[in-house]
Amino acid sequence: MRLFSSICLLLLPLLSAVLAKSAVGNRVLVVLEDESQKGLYSQFWADLEARAFKLSFQSPRSDDLSLFRHGQLAYEHLLLTPPKSKGYGPALTPKILLEFVNAGGNVLLGLSSDSGTPSAISSLLLEFDISLSPDKSSVVVDHFHYDTVSAAEKHDVILVDRPEQLRPDVVNFFGGDGTLAVPKAVGQTLGNTSPLLAPILKAPVTAYAYNPKEEAESVEEPFATGSQLALISAMQARNSARFTVLGSLEMLQDNWFDASVRAPTGKSAKTVNREFAKQLTEWTFQEVGVLKVFHIQHYEIKPSTKADENTTQISEYDPAIYRIKNDVEFEIEIGQYDRTHYVPFTVPANDALQLEFTMLSPFHRIPLHPSSATPNSTTFSTTFTTPDQHGIFAFKVNYKRPFFTYIEEKRQVTVRHFAHDEWPRSWAISGAWPWIGGLWSVILGFLAFVMVWLYCEPPKEEAERRRKLSVGSTPR
Ligand SMILES: *[C@@H]1O[C@H](CO)[C@@H](O)[C@H](O)[C@H]1NC(C)=O
Ligand SMILES: *[C@@H]1O[C@H](CO)[C@@H](O)[C@H](O)[C@H]1NC(C)=O
Repeated sequence: MRLFSSICLLLLPLLSAVLAKSAVGNRVLVVLEDESQKGLYSQFWADLEARAFKLSFQSPRSDDLSLFRHGQLAYEHLLLTPPKSKGYGPALTPKILLEFVNAGGNVLLGLSSDSGTPSAISSLLLEFDISLSPDKSSVVVDHFHYDTVSAAEKHDVILVDRPEQLRPDVVNFFGGDGTLAVPKAVGQTLGNTSPLLAPILKAPVTAYAYNPKEEAESVEEPFATGSQLALISAMQARNSARFTVLGSLEMLQDNWFDASVRAPTGKSAKTVNREFAKQLTEWTFQEVGVLKVFHIQHYEIKPSTKADENTTQISEYDPAIYRIKNDVEFEIEIGQYDRTHYVPFTVPANDALQLEFTMLSPFHRIPLHPSSATPNSTTFSTTFTTPDQHGIFAFKVNYKRPFFTYIEEKRQVTVRHFAHDEWPRSWAISGAWPWIGGLWSVILGFLAFVMVWLYCEPPKEEAERRRKLSVGSTPR
């Protein structure tokens, strides 16, 4: 029996891993101050549970609330609802929330103009370069795109179309047809310096943020207007943890999931908040847009020999050392997580996956093309010739796009000079032929001269004269 239960214990994590629909895990902590609020979102919780998420509801005041257990994440995902009081209490200080994100936890932060945003949260968002109106009860209104059924007077239930393609090279995980109702939203403005930020849903051009409690003056100088205002925005940290700021938590309530709304133009529609809520949580909780590098390899392609001219020879995979002017092939295998499993990754149109061969700065930056695919991944490859420069180089793939988890891979190799016996022989270089010719003609000429000199017989009369001379001088 004990054996059985210990086997069960061993299998348990495996089992939950199989069930998880998210690439990172399925434990969600919902921080909800007011238990009575839970019923308002029953459909939303049910949708999450249907996708195998395990929800734990906790009050921020609860004593056993902790995001970490034994130094590890106790939950992979965190859903924060707006607190009634000044902040979330000692277990959820901005510092702990940052630690949670740094450890890879995903956060969906719901805001509401009804309860206002605690200053601790505003300053945390400011660190991400997301600013909220300094005015706590500021709300986004639009006199042209509001719901005439529920907000005939206040114009604070905004009707927006689901986001269009934001950029041609970015996959839109939130797209589709239909109208969204965004009640009582807290508008955000995004700093334009951080590449980690991206708006998910922008306010219509005629919208602006103002404080309904203060009259007139604040409208003269609104905090932000039009598409400057983001209703929902996303920050993907450098470790690919996702932090989504949802300006209007109310839009997830049951009564907005398929409410009937009527625009001021008289056009009636059913809201698609439910489907959008699914897309939003799918992205935030890493069920989509997660890229994984399965395998990387690089090798030298040797010029083929005469014997088998049609096969390239690969002597070694991932060698630590290359020579200058080697032909090198690089391959990277990437899969994209799509709700339940990995599928082959395709680079969006107008975009490119690139390989850099760098020493301090890239010597090569070349596109990687898909060369083969498995059911779970695509292999991208390219070939190039190592530059005429020796040193420590790195193969680098740096692919960072909004809404996709980041790929940053680096493999370091040494590039050496030609060895002495690897240079082409002198006679193989046609430009050297005049010099070789000159050299050998001097050598051969000299040898010929010596031969001629040594074997030449002296002239006859000269020999005679010498003989006579020697005879005449001899004393008798
Ligand atoms: C190489 O390929 C060519 C044509 O593709 C073929 O004619 C030749 O016989 C092949 N050589 C070898 C050694 O297989
Ligand atoms: C690979 O793909 C198959 C078929 O689509 C799928 O059943 C399997 O779970 C996938 N493996 C991973 C690791 O995602």
